[in-house]
Amino acid sequence: MKVLLLGSGAREHALARSLASDPAVSAVVALPGNPGIASLARCVPGDPADPELVLEVATSEQVDLVVVGPEAPLVAGVADTVRAAGIPCFGPSAEAARLEGSKAFAKEVMTAAGVPTAAAHVCTTLDAVEEALAATGSPFVVKEDGLAAGKGVVVCASRDEALAHAAACLGREDGRVVVEDFLDGPEVSLFCLADGRTVVPLEPVQDFKRAGDGDTGPNTGGMGAYTPLPWAPEGLVDQVVRTVAEPTVREMAARGMPFIGLLYIGLAMTPAGPRVIEYNARFGDPETQSVLARLRTPLAGVLLAAARGRLHELPPLEWSPESSVTVVVAAEGYPAGPLTGDPVKGIDEAESVEGVHVLQAGTRIDEASGQLVSAGGRVLSVVALGEDLAEARERAYAGVARVSLRGSHHRRDIADRAAAGQIEVPSLAEVLAAVTDAEEPTRSPSQEP
Ligand code: AMP
Ligand code: GLY
Repeated sequence: MKVLLLGSGAREHALARSLASDPAVSAVVALPGNPGIASLARCVPGDPADPELVLEVATSEQVDLVVVGPEAPLVAGVADTVRAAGIPCFGPSAEAARLEGSKAFAKEVMTAAGVPTAAAHVCTTLDAVEEALAATGSPFVVKEDGLAAGKGVVVCASRDEALAHAAACLGREDGRVVVEDFLDGPEVSLFCLADGRTVVPLEPVQDFKRAGDGDTGPNTGGMGAYTPLPWAPEGLVDQVVRTVAEPTVREMAARGMPFIGLLYIGLAMTPAGPRVIEYNARFGDPETQSVLARLRTPLAGVLLAAARGRLHELPPLEWSPESSVTVVVAAEGYPAGPLTGDPVKGIDEAESVEGVHVLQAGTRIDEASGQLVSAGGRVLSVVALGEDLAEARERAYAGVARVSLRGSHHRRDIADRAAAGQIEVPSLAEVLAAVTDAEEPTRSPSQEP
């Protein structure tokens, strides 16, 4: 099988690594790929969000499967063009990708499908926002409706800050914001493969979105991840598949926009149970780096089964019992304004640490010097497997210590609380007891669907 992979991040490097190691795969072609992917695949330059170019490459290379990494090609309709030409594609249509592209649409589908999520108000005027903020109370959650690369969401205690963010979003063309209830609890990402009908979950994983240790600083694309989640309640995956993934996939099919690809379910583990925070229509980054490190079933066959509507024929996925920790090494200035063009060294040394591999994201080969240099905000993902989270963490950080990039930064606390057994999902009974003890609850915990 020959596979065309779209994208250029560490997520795609992880996908390329898994695809290339599938015995059924004869070759991987990447558009555009990156210097790390180039050691596993033939990289073709060009814009992966250009449907005609993708089709041209897929056709001339005679690939059997196209795998879409990032959201931009999905929104641009690449999957539609590829499928219309009869080539299996792992990635939803532009219409179905609106589950990620529009938070208002995602809420509409969740409501229709009866999926547990935060109560939400879609607003187009500041007056409506003021009313919605009064209804939800603090902490306030205000989200820009469209794709905003993780920067469109403000969660804050200040009503003025919430209003200012809403005003900025509404000021843009066709501005719409979603104001919703605050969901309290640790977050889980659950990736589900979908073929339009059948859902197959991957292992749950946790992501670290803030730039700084202890979840401080600005939101980023993601600074690290780990799996498994020793603290996750028993039966979580089955419950989320039954109450979230399957009803959503059924609802999309009923709307004539079957979801084929990866449904990324971002959850908050609230006292009242798991609640959906967001959907994405693609693999998450950096979660994928950790999840795929543990997947033993050859990946290409799995993604092809999804693309061809054959997930029901797939035997259960096999997973390594090991733990996996991913630490992102980011350029100086990320996320606000990353510096680029600095030499990136020590990848081989990092990979000499047992259980460690390094995936590249914002890198390029400098033509003049032939050296690997930084070319983006998130530069590398250092991924480690270990017997447990503590060992995987130790190895990942030993790897990070051997990498050198001037001014780089990374979080030092990836998976530390999980490894130390410090993450707890509060039970509803505990929360109700606390509310009864308090004088007067300021607002009801309106987290029921
Ligand atoms: P999103 O772009 O929807 O994933 O939001 C980005 C981040 O904002 C999430 O990962 C959460 O940490 C936070 N967030 C979003 N919605 C809520 C909510 N309703 N309650 C609490 N935190 C939220
Ligand atoms: N890690 C979050 C995302 O991929 O959206």
